[in-house]
Amino acid sequence: MIAGQRVLDLGAGGGIVAVAAMRAGAAAALAVDVDPDAIALVALNAEANAVAVATLCADILDQPPPAVDWVLVGDLFYEAALARRVAAFLDRCRAAGAEALIGDPGRAHLPLARLERLAEYRLADFGDPPAAAATAGAVFAFRREAGRWPT
Ligand SMILES: C[S@@+](CC[C@H](N)C(=O)[O-])C[C@H]1O[C@@H](n2cnc3c(N)ncnc32)[C@H](O)[C@@H]1O
Repeated sequence: MIAGQRVLDLGAGGGIVAVAAMRAGAAAALAVDVDPDAIALVALNAEANAVAVATLCADILDQPPPAVDWVLVGDLFYEAALARRVAAFLDRCRAAGAEALIGDPGRAHLPLARLERLAEYRLADFGDPPAAAATAGAVFAFRREAGRWPT
């Protein structure tokens, strides 16, 4: 699915999504994050995995959609205002022809009513002690018939 495609890892953190996409055969991956430490980590992670990942330290949520085929978002719906901006950005990317996938551990501001659950995984949340019970994380796509995010 991702092979040969151009991928944006939005809110990349350590860049695991971008690295995984490149390892799965993506043509190019751009990892974007507002945190310079995250961007530095993406570079290290890409090098450790022997893949090329372009990086951008910026907030692009109010910018025009980049030229990519897929926008992949991991855990970016944890604040209401940020979630609204991310959803609006994804709407614009989809209107420009990109597909969007969201990985989420069940954050409060995920627009669930607009999403279709594609897969579910057991996972530990960031900062969980080793003995903590696993929670459910899932991958979502927007429903085709879904309306736009209310403003
Ligand atoms: C919970 S972490 C998720 C990291 C990664 N996607 C993952 O799943 O491991 C959220 C990341 O989004 C970044 N972030 C927050 N607001 C952002 C914005 N407006 N644009 C880009 N990245 C943002 C944070 O700096 C942080 O690295």
